[in-house]
Amino acid sequence: MTPKILLIGGNGFIGSHLADALLACGASLRILDVQAERFRPPLPGVQYFSGDCTNSATLRAALAGCDTLVYLAHNTLPLASFLNLDREVRQGLEVFAGVLEMAVQEQVERVMLFSSGGAVYGEPPSAAPVEETIACRPVSPYGLVKLMMEGYLHMVHHLHGLPYLVVRPSNPFGPRQNFLGHQGAIPIFMHRLLTGQPISVWGDGQAVKDYIYITDLIGAVVSLLEAGFDNQIYNIGSGLGRSVVEIVAALEQELSRKARLEYRPAHAGDVAHSVLAMGKLTARTGWTPQTSFEDGLRKTKQWYDQVEK
Ligand SMILES: NC(=O)c1ccc[n+]([C@@H]2O[C@H](COP(=O)([O-])OP(=O)(O)OC[C@H]3O[C@@H](n4cnc5c(N)ncnc54)[C@H](O)[C@@H]3O)[C@@H](O)[C@H]2O)c1
Repeated sequence: MTPKILLIGGNGFIGSHLADALLACGASLRILDVQAERFRPPLPGVQYFSGDCTNSATLRAALAGCDTLVYLAHNTLPLASFLNLDREVRQGLEVFAGVLEMAVQEQVERVMLFSSGGAVYGEPPSAAPVEETIACRPVSPYGLVKLMMEGYLHMVHHLHGLPYLVVRPSNPFGPRQNFLGHQGAIPIFMHRLLTGQPISVWGDGQAVKDYIYITDLIGAVVSLLEAGFDNQIYNIGSGLGRSVVEIVAALEQELSRKARLEYRPAHAGDVAHSVLAMGKLTARTGWTPQTSFEDGLRKTKQWYDQVEK
């Protein structure tokens, strides 16, 4: 039977790529989002619901008859969330709790939550890639609220038997990531390099993160959806760490430009080292990343050139 899938937040960066992959798999797809996709027109074959998922009439209409809910909506960013903890809880946890309540009423059969592999762990105890089993000690309201959302989903599963999957992506990059926004170092740095603007580096530039090309993230998500909802949490990353200065050097090489760096004080809520262990996902689905970091940069640049033509 064709799966009927609703993506809440499906017009964002990750959702737009997930929509492509699910349509290619033959899913019957709905998207509920407060805004349209930024970089392309609506997709044929998708049923769109325009609005906020806090609007119960819109949410109910979007959920009715769906068997699978994928929750991608999130309004705040890891660092911006410091400005207002109450807002983070209201817009993160409370909104998600309302969506889950209606999903249970509408007899949705399974839920996937997009959490955060970069923010829920906090500063890991060593430089080794972090496994899903280590104690989570988030150091930002964003990370804390993501962890609470995971816990809330588990509780709903316990109370109502709703099967779930949680994915903790690292730092995805690629086409359709907003290079004028505040999240996604690679497209933002790329845009600033190509337009002769300085690049802001928070801290000493040695913070190490795990970057994954967007279609690899989506490949991993689809492999999990196909493997089934086993009420587990999965990291999704490349398993490789790169510092900010290494990212800049790779971009300089790819774009044949020299960067001007402006160093700024590190944010208290940023972690110095974050690389994800991928063993659990690989054991479950056999998935491994397919795109090298350099190829990912090249493909992102090709897309950027088309958009900025
Ligand atoms: N991009 C990353 O680096 C990254 C890394 C790890 C985890 N995540 C998580 O993955 C998810 C998707 O990330 P993204 O980069 O695609 O974000 P995005 O901001 O590009 O997309 C989120 C979408 O959710 C929509 N939205 C927000 N609040 C809504 C609401 N109340 N009702 C309906 N729609 C709403 C927005 O309009 C937007 O289109 C988020 O939960 C994010 O926290 C992202």
